[in-house]
Order: sequence, then C-alpha cells, then structure tokens
Amino acid sequence: MSVGIFDSGLGGLTVWDAVARRLPELAVAYYGDNAHAPYGVRSADDIYALTRRAVHNMWDGGCDLVVLACNTASAAALRRLQEAGVPPGRRVLGVFVPLIEALSERDWGDNSPPREVAVSQVALFATPATVASRAFQRELAFRAIGVDVEAQACGGLVDAIEEGDMILADALVQSHVDALRRKMPDPQAAILGCTHYPLVADAFRAALGDNVTVFSQADIVAESLADYLARRPEMARGGTGRMLTTGDPARVSARATQFLRRPVTFEAA
Ligand code: DGL
Repeated sequence: MSVGIFDSGLGGLTVWDAVARRLPELAVAYYGDNAHAPYGVRSADDIYALTRRAVHNMWDGGCDLVVLACNTASAAALRRLQEAGVPPGRRVLGVFVPLIEALSERDWGDNSPPREVAVSQVALFATPATVASRAFQRELAFRAIGVDVEAQACGGLVDAIEEGDMILADALVQSHVDALRRKMPDPQAAILGCTHYPLVADAFRAALGDNVTVFSQADIVAESLADYLARRPEMARGGTGRMLTTGDPARVSARATQFLRRPVTFEAA
C-alpha cells in the first residue's frame, strides 16, 4: 500500500519532495484538492468536510496511511476525523506534532511534563484558519513552558502561491513579517506553519534576517515519517506512486514543475 500525502493544493509538495529524498524507495500517492484551495479562509466545518472526503478517497484508493501535509486540515480536521472513527488498518497523521517536537527538543512520543526550551519568543506564520484554531499554541503548551508565541495570519499568501504569482507572494511575505515585528520586534525563531510557505522560504529568511531561526516542516515531517515507518513497516508495503488533483491536471502539473524544478505530472483525482 502506498503512503498518501494530502494537501489543499501545492503546499504538500514541499513535504512530498522531502519524503521522496528521505525515503526514495517508498511509493507515495499525492492528493491535492486544488479545486477547493485555499482552505485557510474556510470555516472549520468546511475544512473538515473537504478533508474527510479526500482522506476517504485516499484510503479507498489503497493508501493505508494518509499524512495531512496541511496545517489547516491538521488543525481543523485531524482530531474530528480520528474521533469519527478510522477504519481498521488505516491511519491518518498530521504535521503539527513533529514540528512542535523539533521546536521543543523532544523525541517522538516523549510525553514528559512541559519544560523550558531554548527559545522563548516564537513567531508563527500560518493561514487564518490555523491561527484561529490556536492548535499550535495548544500542542506547544503540552510540551514547553515559558514560550511566547505571536501568530501572524498570512492572508492572501496561499492564493498567490497557487496562482504562481511569486512577485505578489514575496511582497505579502514582507508585509506579514513587518506586521509580526510590530507585535514581536525580536523573535528568536519563526515557524512556517503552512506547507505552502517553504515555497517562499527565501523571502521569509530575507525579511526575518539572519538572527531568526526558521523552522520549516518538510524535512521534519519526512524524518518523523521515516521514524514512524521503521516502527510500523506494514503501513507502507508495495503500492504505486501517483499524483492526483481535483483541479486542472495540466495547470497543476505546470505549477508543480515550476516549484520543484523537475517534471511532475498530475492526473485527475
Ligand atoms: N498548505 C496548507 C497548510 O499547511 C494550506 C493552506 C490553504 O489551503 O489555505 O496550511
């Protein structure tokens, strides 16, 4: 069975690419719900309904394990999906916990009480729905104490990236970093809390400056998936890799090829 990687659109490709580098033998199916992106401006109910449909499609299509490579879906839908009942032998995982374990210097599954960590001033850049959910702060509070998190909802950024308008995307990054700095002038670390944002990581790094450590999810999630599959190898036996989209396959393939700088071909989901 292949492992499924899901995102509202192109952002999960940052995770897909890191997984392909870390686990080159793994068969991975990608599912981008480009027809409904962006998720980050939708209600929690809407995000849940769209995520549920995509995850069930992936389970039915032969992915026993689905990774929500989307913070917005992880924040608004993961717990609800798990509470609604996961079919036997199937799993769905999110991207928040690996990132927070990295930030709070924990190994997987370390459930010891919250403790002080190296950073105390953290900037979180994420979609409006992720920021509104406060899921990041909640997960962090289970693991770390004394960390001040200032969140910046980056309106418009996912749209610009999905449209391939990188001039607008870079300008939006600068204005969101400026807005964050008005609330927190000297963050020590910045979290790119949306899987689309690594596609403009250089703009974030330039706007934030050299003194800010930027945490981006792709490699962290790939490492965490490798660790998970080492413990649960039965979740990834056989299967074939496919790239599926609910959007226009030609258009999505062109954007994906532009972002990953190698040919990527999508087919209709
Ligand atoms: N890539 C998603 C995330 O990580 C996306 C966003 C969206 O569709 O707004 O939050």
